[in-house]
Amino acid sequence: MIITIDGPAAAGKGTISAYLSNKYRLAYFDTGMVYRAVGLQMVLTATDLQNTTAAFKIAKELTFPQMMELSLHPDFRSDIGGSAASVVSAYPEVRAALLDMQKNFALNPVFADGKPAKGVVYDGRDTGTVICPNADLKLFITASTEVRAKRRYKEFLQKGLITTYQKVLADMIERDKRDSNRANAPLKPADDAVVIDTSDLDIAAVLAYITPLVEAKL
Ligand code: DC
Repeated sequence: MIITIDGPAAAGKGTISAYLSNKYRLAYFDTGMVYRAVGLQMVLTATDLQNTTAAFKIAKELTFPQMMELSLHPDFRSDIGGSAASVVSAYPEVRAALLDMQKNFALNPVFADGKPAKGVVYDGRDTGTVICPNADLKLFITASTEVRAKRRYKEFLQKGLITTYQKVLADMIERDKRDSNRANAPLKPADDAVVIDTSDLDIAAVLAYITPLVEAKL
């Protein structure tokens, strides 16, 4: 069973993915992590984010354990990590170098403790279009920019990260523009994806809508 959940930042993909992977005992691959790992590695080594050769080298050499280690850094999830990820993810060579790592996970999905799983929930931007075009169920989760910026700002505050709503909103607009306009795998729903706008829905309503879609595929 493969479920792909794509959409812009802070639309609710992470919460939905965690719920589905838990409820249906599916492994979870947050594919934004591969780009965050490359972006953060560039930041930590003071490498210019425009240096495509360096980004490609880091992406080509990235391993799963190295990505997990980088994910422990405080800036992995901050707007520093997010913006760096968005920049490097626009480079076609970087995307190509990280393709196998993402695709191969579905061949042998495992939980965080290494135990095998019967399927996987992918969370990202192109998982239904590029990574798993044959997924059993494809969801595209979206919400207005302001609603997403408010959610992200709240998340940052809860994590104790210092920022302002205006900064989060500006960063979100910039990131959306980059993710949607890049030539390679731009953010868009797969033709066969179910598109859900969560702007006016709480998480319970979204999950109530999605659950029958998943059950129908079991
Ligand atoms: O989901 P996230 O915020 O962790 O993603 C960080 C960046 O990575 C995002 O701005 C775009 C990029 N990304 C991508 O291009 N393709 C994916 N499948 C996942 C993320």
